[in-house]
Amino acid sequence: MNPLKELHIEMIKQDFPILNQKINGKPLIYLDSSATSQKPKQVIDAIAEYYMSYNANVHRAIHTLGEKATLKYEEAHEKVAKLINAKKEEIIFTRNTTESLNILAYSLGKNITSKDNIVVTEMEHHSNIIPWQQLCKRTGAQLRFIPIDREGKLDIKKSPIDKDTKVVSVAHVSNVLGTMNPIKEISNIAHKFGAYCIVDGAQSVPHLKIDIKDLNIDFMAFSGHKMLGPTGIGGLYGKKEYLKKINPVFFGGGMISDVTEQDAKWADIPNKFEAGTPNIEGAIALGEAVDYLESIGVEKISRYNKDLTQYAMKRLLELNNITVYGPENGDRIGLISFNLVGIHPHDVAQLLDKEGIAIRAGHMCAKPLMRTLGISAVCRVSFYFYNTKEDIDSLIGSLKKIQEVFK
Ligand code: ALA
Repeated sequence: MNPLKELHIEMIKQDFPILNQKINGKPLIYLDSSATSQKPKQVIDAIAEYYMSYNANVHRAIHTLGEKATLKYEEAHEKVAKLINAKKEEIIFTRNTTESLNILAYSLGKNITSKDNIVVTEMEHHSNIIPWQQLCKRTGAQLRFIPIDREGKLDIKKSPIDKDTKVVSVAHVSNVLGTMNPIKEISNIAHKFGAYCIVDGAQSVPHLKIDIKDLNIDFMAFSGHKMLGPTGIGGLYGKKEYLKKINPVFFGGGMISDVTEQDAKWADIPNKFEAGTPNIEGAIALGEAVDYLESIGVEKISRYNKDLTQYAMKRLLELNNITVYGPENGDRIGLISFNLVGIHPHDVAQLLDKEGIAIRAGHMCAKPLMRTLGISAVCRVSFYFYNTKEDIDSLIGSLKKIQEVFK
């Protein structure tokens, strides 16, 4: 079946109340899901239900509300774990991808010295660069970059990974180029040299069927709000043996097994890494988001999104005076960045907004990549399974109009 016909989009859209509105007098076309996805009413209702019927702290209270909250919070770990084929205790709830990567940079950083190096890539988001830059400043270690080729794919042959590499941290899908990186190949190289392999899954977990065992990675960071969940909840997957071994970064309530005046012992994983009262409603709503994704089918979502991205690529390339970044073929998903020659991306975004079309414009939190590409900003359109070919056609029509205005 044609993947673009596989999903009942009109029915799906009814679950997303926000999409049923006009912006500047035009029906909203939301093409900014890589920044944050919209939320189905099932997720919004889960938050209200928690506060209206069982708001209580978790892992502390021996009363009915506390027990229900704890059960639902624990269930959320299980659901997220199942989604990526991990074990329940291998999922730590954090605020977002950024926090997860910072936790790793601090925790793994304890054993890094000035003889070591950390490897990232030229296509990383700031959240997968700055924590490692800071670690390198603290320890004197070197930060190295796997370069990209002309197509916007990683040039693995030029990888700087060597025997002194302790961490290789790579985006699964680039938030600018849309490139899907060969994670298995990279993790094999990292492991050959005894380095940890970390994956920034912010742009992949919402769209791809992830099997972290198959990818054979050690850690993965991801955000709930890009996969239908609320903001302020994200995840850190870690292989059980490593999570047991490494130290927590936040200390306080809920993460100990014993405390004396001068010392403390840590609780089991994942609690060891979840100090303080967690984002309970966020976690429960993320669990609901996972249920929603699975009710549609992650593989179907993935096929749909790949096809929509290919369709958008084809239509964008029909325009004159456009530069599109990243691979033109099938090695991409979910988003496309481009520039219209002679028109600033902020102007494009502002004019599209007048047509009810929401896109992101700017440096995409990837300034080193912008420098590599020799630009300072891009327009980015990003898709989820509530978008349609008609949305893309409207985008193309509006872009043509903008080009006319600037002629
Ligand atoms: N990381 C998000 C993006 O790429 C915010 O837009």
